[in-house]
Amino acid sequence: MATRINPSILSADFANLERELARIGTADLVHVDIMDNHFVPNLTFGLPMVQRLQQVSPIPLDVHLMIDDPDRWAPGYAEAGAASVTFHAEAANEPVALARRLREIGARAGIALKPGTDATPYLDLLPEFDQVLIMTVEPGFGGQSFIHETMPKLRRVADAVEAAGLDVWLQVDGGITAETIGIAAEAGADTFVAGSAVYNGGDPADRIEELRAAVLS
Ligand code: DX5
Ligand code: ZN
Repeated sequence: MATRINPSILSADFANLERELARIGTADLVHVDIMDNHFVPNLTFGLPMVQRLQQVSPIPLDVHLMIDDPDRWAPGYAEAGAASVTFHAEAANEPVALARRLREIGARAGIALKPGTDATPYLDLLPEFDQVLIMTVEPGFGGQSFIHETMPKLRRVADAVEAAGLDVWLQVDGGITAETIGIAAEAGADTFVAGSAVYNGGDPADRIEELRAAVLS
């Protein structure tokens, strides 16, 4: 099984993002958190920043939209060249139409579920998506603790993906460390977002390799 480590630049130095990207050269994708201070009680940055990151990043962008009305805004991020664009199920009006639009533009389409959101309504829709993001913290802030209670939901989605014979990446985001990554992998995740675990302790490239090793151990 492929393992992908996607560092979140939410924990990077915003004044030196190009340099921060260069420090994570061994990452699979770079996770870019867009927050609008409506869907979540925090604000980051928007499309102009992603357009510029796309120009300078050696690593494909994995955009996580924590915003209201993704139906309106998400296609712009795909048009900017993001490799994947993930919107929240709780915020989308027409998730299937939006996913189709994102794919048409050429991005991988992702749907994210907050810790309290039931996956059941989305299991039949899995063929419409390239990735499912199971949030392992409440979206909005880096540095929170992994919510273990989200693991049964991850397992259910993983089982549904396997039963349907689909190639849908299963991503976890929030509180991923060398201690928790194995638990998420065990429950079926293959794509791991890590912010503070990558950027808040020495060389980010070393932290990425530790996370990879912890998945395999
Ligand atoms: C939180 C964001 C995450 C955040 C994760 O809402 O979606 O991507 O950067 O940070 P850590 O890894 O520190 O929990
Ligand atoms: Zn995120």
